[in-house]
Amino acid sequence: MATRTALITGASRGIGLAIAERLLADGFDITISARDPEKLAAVAERLRERSGRRVVALAGELGDPSAVEAVTQAHHEAYGAMSALVLNAGVGTLGSIGEIPMNRFQKVVDLNLRAPLHYLQQSLPLLRKGAEADEVHGAKVVALASITGVFAEPQLGIYGATKAALSLLIDTLNIEQSASGITGTSIAPAYVDTDMAAWKHGELAPESMIPTSDVAELVGALVAMNRRTLIGQVVMARSGSDGRRA
Ligand SMILES: NC(=O)c1ccc[n+]([C@@H]2O[C@H](COP(=O)([O-])OP(=O)(O)OC[C@H]3O[C@@H](n4cnc5c(N)ncnc54)[C@H](OP(=O)(O)O)[C@@H]3O)[C@@H](O)[C@H]2O)c1
Repeated sequence: MATRTALITGASRGIGLAIAERLLADGFDITISARDPEKLAAVAERLRERSGRRVVALAGELGDPSAVEAVTQAHHEAYGAMSALVLNAGVGTLGSIGEIPMNRFQKVVDLNLRAPLHYLQQSLPLLRKGAEADEVHGAKVVALASITGVFAEPQLGIYGATKAALSLLIDTLNIEQSASGITGTSIAPAYVDTDMAAWKHGELAPESMIPTSDVAELVGALVAMNRRTLIGQVVMARSGSDGRRA
């Protein structure tokens, strides 16, 4: 079997970096992206040194369609096919329905929904090639959604709505593509201990949040599964919570 390859967005830190480390350890060659070119280059170099594997890195803003196309193209040129697409990059936002400014709403929709759809469209021809080349696994799509897209939570409704829509896109992808070997999963976690959740530390200790390594562990399990198995969504709650709150 040819080496499997993965494109991971937002992989310079947090959940995306943990997933990148995990997939490299599992024998994938990868492409990673994030905005800050220097940090991304430094992370890519460290990942190459530790894993001895190929790491293509291209910086780009998620909200810039030409950057989405350039990152996918970089993966294409390096590997020619894609075994896994990890739609990880996204942004959080706080605000009640009555008060959230419409321009902020638009930005969150652009980054959390429009950009992942664009990545998916750009990647589908490569994922088809990946699925054709791998009779066992097919090709996988993993999207980082949120538990706030499954259960409503005050102040997080706009963020949650973009994540619910992202999960629905993955469900639709499964209906449209899973028979030909491309299967998708949306992961819907409660608070994960990363920079994105740091604003919550006053109320919730980092030690009570989900570790990034557990999200990476789940992604490792998903990409290891046979193409005959379909897991549309996984909700990751925090122990000590009611299982429905972030
Ligand atoms: N942490 C949580 O509690 C939690 C819970 C549920 C779901 N999630 C979801 O999990 C995903 C990853 O979250 P995280 O906590 O790991 O986030 P994080 O620690 O803030 O890391 C975000 C990553 O994405 C990149 N990024 C951020 N904005 C970007 C943009 N506009 N364009 C391109 N790259 C961008 C960042 O690098 P640069 O800053 O250099 O761009 C970084 O590599 C997100 O989709 C988030 O919504 C997180």
